[in-house]
Amino acid sequence: MATLTGLEPRLYHVRSTLLVVLALYVSYRISQWIYKAYRVRTRFHDIPSLPRHLIWGNLINAGERLKPSLKRHPDYGFEEIWRELGEPGCFLVDLAPIEDRGFLIIAEPQYVEALVNSTEEFKYSIPKSNNYHALKPVLGAESIITKEGAAWREMRKRFNPSFQPRYIHSLTGSIVSRVEIFVERLQSLAKSGITFKMANYAQDLTTDIITQLTIAQDFHAQSTPEGHGEKSPTGLLTASRRLSDMVYDVGQGVGFHMIDPIRPLKSLFYESIIDHKLTAIVRARISSADTTSESKSIMQLAVSGLSPNKALIRSCVDQVKSFLFAGQDTTATLIQWICYEMSKASHSPHHATILSRLRQEHDAVFGPHPFSAPQILSSPATAESESILTFKLPYTTAFIKETLRLHPPAATVRAVPWEATSLSLPLPSQSVSIAGLQIYPSLHLIQRNPNIWGPDAHLFNPGRWLDDSYLAGLPVGAYRPFERGPRNCIGQELAMLEGMVVLVSVARGFVFEKIGLTGREVVDGGEKEREVWSEHAVTSVPVDGMVMRVSMGEKANFRP
Ligand code: HEM
Repeated sequence: MATLTGLEPRLYHVRSTLLVVLALYVSYRISQWIYKAYRVRTRFHDIPSLPRHLIWGNLINAGERLKPSLKRHPDYGFEEIWRELGEPGCFLVDLAPIEDRGFLIIAEPQYVEALVNSTEEFKYSIPKSNNYHALKPVLGAESIITKEGAAWREMRKRFNPSFQPRYIHSLTGSIVSRVEIFVERLQSLAKSGITFKMANYAQDLTTDIITQLTIAQDFHAQSTPEGHGEKSPTGLLTASRRLSDMVYDVGQGVGFHMIDPIRPLKSLFYESIIDHKLTAIVRARISSADTTSESKSIMQLAVSGLSPNKALIRSCVDQVKSFLFAGQDTTATLIQWICYEMSKASHSPHHATILSRLRQEHDAVFGPHPFSAPQILSSPATAESESILTFKLPYTTAFIKETLRLHPPAATVRAVPWEATSLSLPLPSQSVSIAGLQIYPSLHLIQRNPNIWGPDAHLFNPGRWLDDSYLAGLPVGAYRPFERGPRNCIGQELAMLEGMVVLVSVARGFVFEKIGLTGREVVDGGEKEREVWSEHAVTSVPVDGMVMRVSMGEKANFRP
């Protein structure tokens, strides 16, 4: 009893010390919060913005247009603000203290060019935003997407040669064989007449392509039923998708995910499945001498000549994860929008003319059979398929560029360090320092800006890409779906090639029908705008997974 009594004051002492430490920590965090909010709130007054409240900044007047519950990409909210501000080249959104930095939203390319290119102060352009840290479970710690400085440069140098056009085109046969399976799946869907989400089919396709190309491994996403093989609960494809979904939750802002106690365990579980399987494959590929054309992978090419130590394998696994992440959803989104733009031919004479011109080009290059393109492209003469895709399909290329102009799947977010000295914003009235701001070049605003693209900026019109005098009048950097500068997209040739092969393989054999629209209600009091919104899921994706029906085109039963 005496001992217990002796313990009590000591316990009391420990408890009160802990409480004091906790209180100090909480006060420190709150003061940090206040300081950061104060720092943003008291600066950048010369940059156009909605009225900023002393305490709330733009949390209320911008927040109500950006909140995740609207189920639309923040770009639509930025567009509303941009219009309200009189369409400036850039503007400020101050969400401190929810975001500890202000956002500079950019709507004109001349403001972006200096920020994503090399400068004396930022040799490899301004660093990426801290928001990318949330992607670590998916990308790994060594990812080319998040690394900075010399470590990034080293990695990029290592992988650049395997993404050069010549090498990427040598892989056309591999791409075509996966697209043939995609076509077969669409044929089955056309026969059954069911409604389906194009996102699922396009993602299976791009997964098969990117894994085959990067690590010479086909996970057969297109032919594996849900719940089996790599799509079973412990399969790599399931783990990859679940992990991406968890990261997407983070992009949705405040929510249950922030306090979910099981979440870190689930994340670790999926990460360990992916790491375990990819490490085994990467190790085998690096030590394999087999470099026949189907098995030669982007990764093997990048590491040839290096000694296969633990650090190299670790780094390669993270790059493969990064390529899967960066190359799968983005390209799948491109394919969905390609099909969507074709679907408009059924109700719009303008789009019917576009589709007819596209099909004429395919007839001229591949002959009259609607499904002849894959066979011709996969002929062993690589130079032949490369020259067809590069030079003989200008309207098809224009169709894809126009799709990426109106529906850009990805973008960059950068953060200018507070201590940066050389960066200022050349506003019409004066130059303003942007040290401490996050930079978001909104491709939705830049690539649909009527002040740049003309009054038909919102119209899908591939023909604009074939009009040399129109193109000559565009400012530098007006079109930037793969961003520009040293940290542009390493996979852009590959993405374009995938888009081309898909488009020439499906445009003549299928009729796509969009089921359900999610766009804005009215256009000038006329017909409801036939639009599908994108939503923010780290990348920008169609909000409904692109629900469609497909039927066989008129020429589908063609016999030569
Ligand atoms: C239509 C498809 C695609 C689009 C629109 C796209 C767009 C972009 C954009 C905007 C960036 C800059 C992102 C940032 O700064 O955070 C980027 C970076 C990147 N992309 Fe793509 N991408 C596509 C397909 C691909 C593919 C197929 C790959 C295949 C590997 C890929 C790999 C990467 C990588 C590794 C980076 C980071 C590059 C670096 O920081 O050095 N992308 N992409």
